Amino acid sequence: MTINVTRTYLPDRQKLDGYIDKIYESAWVTNNSRFCQELEARLKDYLGVKNLILVANGTLALQVLYKAMAIKGSVITTPFSFIATTSSLLWEGLRPVFADINAASWNIDTDKISDQITSDCSAIVPVHVFGNPCEIEKIDRIAQKHSLKVIYDGAHAFGVNYKGESVLNRGQASILSFHATKMFHTIEGGAIVTSDDDLAKQIRLMINFGITGPETIECIGINCKMNEFQAAMGLCILDDMPAIENSRRKVWEYYKNNLSTRLLWQQWNDNSNQNFHYAPVLFPCEAALKKAQSALTASNIFPRRYFYPSLNTLAFTGNLSSMPVSEDIASRILCLPIFSELAIEQQQRIVEIINQNAF
Ligand SMILES: Cc1ncc(COP(=O)(O)O)c(C=O)c1O
Repeated sequence: MTINVTRTYLPDRQKLDGYIDKIYESAWVTNNSRFCQELEARLKDYLGVKNLILVANGTLALQVLYKAMAIKGSVITTPFSFIATTSSLLWEGLRPVFADINAASWNIDTDKISDQITSDCSAIVPVHVFGNPCEIEKIDRIAQKHSLKVIYDGAHAFGVNYKGESVLNRGQASILSFHATKMFHTIEGGAIVTSDDDLAKQIRLMINFGITGPETIECIGINCKMNEFQAAMGLCILDDMPAIENSRRKVWEYYKNNLSTRLLWQQWNDNSNQNFHYAPVLFPCEAALKKAQSALTASNIFPRRYFYPSLNTLAFTGNLSSMPVSEDIASRILCLPIFSELAIEQQQRIVEIINQNAF
């Protein structure tokens, strides 16, 4: 049996069918439909945030924010992330400028941000990598000093609190991804979170073509709405989140307790809870990673090299600067399979293969 890095969580079929029956009755399948409204309200409460706007995916969430916040020129971001963090900037005609990462947290290194700020810089887009909160107060201080806006890519930070409240409340806004690979998902989907009511209002307008009424269009917008079937999936999964979190925690702990101590783990922010979204391990060298990966592949087990390559090495980003820490971490990191249905025998096998083949 093939084991991938993740397996999409699917909720109880009868429960989902119950929602789908209601969609068939109402025939209201999109445009701020009933289950979208319900999911927004429940997620707002579950996560403890002021405004949450559901959108079609996490990438568009970033792009809509750049537009709504009138981000211009260059933007400081991290080279150690999924490509969407950087490509969303390029797509909007912005210039990503990388600051290297911290070797322990794998987040943007706050001591390296200031050096990258130029006169045309308007924002910082840090990522809470694998859900691990960035050095938020330091980022706030830098942003204030240079009048920069801060948008957190929190694609992995579902359910992560920082100093007693959702980490998504920090900066001017944050985004989430609800892609099928995520611990909470709506098949495709995402959300924008902000404490700024005016910004939230502007975003609601922009994700629906800028339309304000049957005969009124106020601004340039885009179609970035979540639909009713996606929301139904989200409502079913939200009920199961405590069990999902618990099973992922167990998988993560099994790896931590049984894998060779020559593997290193992400240093988690002290002021925060872990959400066990990913199980990334750092090998002593790329050769050891490759040995482990090919032995796993031979057994039909497919971990993923998140995040490889380091984004500063991609010519199309227009920014081929050297980022030694990010390049080094990216070359040695492997995300192991983690999902609710991963059986203990499968985990044992993964651990055995890595411990016997990597070193
Ligand atoms: C860090 C990060 N940012 C943005 C995204 C984009 O989200 P989506 O796939 O929902 O467009 C992802 C998706 O995996 C991600 O990992």
